[in-house]
Amino acid sequence: MTSKWWANEESWRKAAIWVTAFMLVVLIVLTFDTIPKISVGSERVPAYSVINQRIDYVFNEQRNFQVPVIGTEQPLFGTILNEDEAEALVTWGKKITQGRNCMNCHTLLGNGAYYAPDLTKSWLDPNWGDSSMREAMMIRFLMDPPNNYMNDSGRKMPNMHISEDEAKAVIAFLKWMSSIDTNGFPYNFKPIDQEG
Ligand code: HEC
Repeated sequence: MTSKWWANEESWRKAAIWVTAFMLVVLIVLTFDTIPKISVGSERVPAYSVINQRIDYVFNEQRNFQVPVIGTEQPLFGTILNEDEAEALVTWGKKITQGRNCMNCHTLLGNGAYYAPDLTKSWLDPNWGDSSMREAMMIRFLMDPPNNYMNDSGRKMPNMHISEDEAKAVIAFLKWMSSIDTNGFPYNFKPIDQEG
């Protein structure tokens, strides 16, 4: 029987196996290449104790977007935390955002829903006023969003019954997240005036 290779079922089956095997290897290589870049404490994802410091954004001509710059000491809620304490607080904040399904409305690092603003750089949102009142404004907003609304989008965040301690943990998580170098994501945001 002389059939062309392209009409032969067996050659397609072999090709499929080879392509799948090759792509599996590519995937494994990419995974190992990515892990160090997305790990906490790497060049782009600072250690949790970054919440003790000021986070600024500076326009980078070469990359053509705002990049995070970790500045001098600016402890969150006036307390310097060591690495373990900072990790515990940020992790608690992250668990609250997961447990309360904030992603049903918001995006975090681009993941989630598009009803409400992306929270990746919410820490730097100028709507909090200036850096001296930001922490208090964030706590007030998170504990009672409908009565402390932020912008005139017409959409209001419901009261999620977040306690003050939970709000502080969420804010620690948001501050840490804002220090991540996200290659300019989200675009077009204007950072808070730190000197204000
Ligand atoms: C039902 C939808 C919904 C859910 C769920 C929700 N939010 Fe919101 N959130 C909103 C809306 C809408 C706004 C914009 C409100 C405004 O402008 O007053 C907002 C605004 C915010 C802001 C201010 C963002 C900024 O910088 O402008 C923060 C921070 C925030 N939400 C945190 C959270 C957290 C944390 C959770 C989970 C505990 C959560 N949200 C759950 C709808 C939601």
